[in-house]
Amino acid sequence: MVFPKDFLWGAATASYQIEGGGLTDGRGECIWHRFSHTPGNVVNGDTGDVACDHYHRYREDVALMKELGLKAYRFSTSWPRVLPNGIGQINRAGIDFYSRLVDELLEADIRPFITLYHWDLPQALQDKGGWENPDSVKWFGDYAGVMANALGDRITDWTTLNEPFVISFVGNFFGTHAPGKQDIKAAYLVAHHLMLAHGAAVPVIRQAVPNARVGITIDLGYFESPTDNEADVQAAYREDGFKNRWFLDAALKGQYPADIVALLGDILEDIDLAAVKSAAVPVDFLGINYYRRHLFVAGSDGLFSSKDVEPDGSEFTAMGWEIYPDGLRKLLVRVAEEYKPPVIYVTENGAAFDDPPPAQGVVNDPRRAAYLRDHFAAASQAIEQGVPLKGYFVWSLLDNFEWAEGYNKRFGIIYVDYATQKRTFKSSARYYQQLISEQLR
Ligand code: FCB
Repeated sequence: MVFPKDFLWGAATASYQIEGGGLTDGRGECIWHRFSHTPGNVVNGDTGDVACDHYHRYREDVALMKELGLKAYRFSTSWPRVLPNGIGQINRAGIDFYSRLVDELLEADIRPFITLYHWDLPQALQDKGGWENPDSVKWFGDYAGVMANALGDRITDWTTLNEPFVISFVGNFFGTHAPGKQDIKAAYLVAHHLMLAHGAAVPVIRQAVPNARVGITIDLGYFESPTDNEADVQAAYREDGFKNRWFLDAALKGQYPADIVALLGDILEDIDLAAVKSAAVPVDFLGINYYRRHLFVAGSDGLFSSKDVEPDGSEFTAMGWEIYPDGLRKLLVRVAEEYKPPVIYVTENGAAFDDPPPAQGVVNDPRRAAYLRDHFAAASQAIEQGVPLKGYFVWSLLDNFEWAEGYNKRFGIIYVDYATQKRTFKSSARYYQQLISEQLR
């Protein structure tokens, strides 16, 4: 595989998953703090109170990035660290932390890619209805303005939201993520306000940061049917509409997919669907997070009359997710053709495996290295097919707090011993380091 010389080799993390630091230095409570401190929500009762203690160890972590040879680093900012109540009073200590982090990255010649929302909504705003409240559009725009004014002199690459599907549906319909609701109408309302909030924040960022490049990250799965039977193909397409097209069409076409709107009927009755036009502000890039394929056939289950099926003979990660690299290529090609974003980044891709503990200074994780290699190869084929893919962020730099799975699932290319906070390169990190240096030679 050959990538362009200016390809951005990166890694990604998210605030609540790595920072720790509890509620010190004025950080307000976020919905994940509340959710993880409520018994029964997270495996082993784990919380993000300490996580990777990145809040105190960011210098060491940037040094590891530099050793890896990373060109770019995607991180998110904790909204309640900066605005403890979500709106109003700014917490200087919070801004200062991100400011020091950005300086450290620039010093190491690593380009900072900031994401404003990776799921840690201030609890104070959740208490007012959170993303179900139409005011959330303004709350988010104001927060974006605070961050853009504070860091816009040094950051050019801005992402509004990470994974609107997961925020709305996993948090408000499946209920396995914060805030833990199981209400489909609420989930669609949240999804709608998220799209409007994205549309509102983009011009705010551009106003404060004239050279900003602004985008959004959408999580896409590759959906298909294992048969050529028309009913099965249609069922897979409906599932694709539920997860992928709902958000792609909103953010890039300013409308919701008519086939899905029709199926949802009354569920959408309280939503002014046409308002989603304002979500389709032109973006400078689209971020895609890709992990897996989903197979569906026609069935009688749920809203979409479909049934998921287990793939035959595939390999799976420790999350139980099928390993299917060619899905990444196919999605990239499709999104480039149909939605024509000027630039695409893979803002997340990676895998959890049950890694052995460190031995002789390394963690041997050949399956993760192979996973990455095969997905990079798929990405390189997509570039050959004309996809404007300009960078790739491995999920994740460090083992971290994997949401409802707690510390039980490890996605890092760098191992974290949570008892001592010692970091150890896995062999996948060595593989990535080698690949980056070869590609840049
Ligand atoms: C994505 C999230 C990220 C991480 C990976 C495994 O959905 O954006 O925070 O949990 O999955």
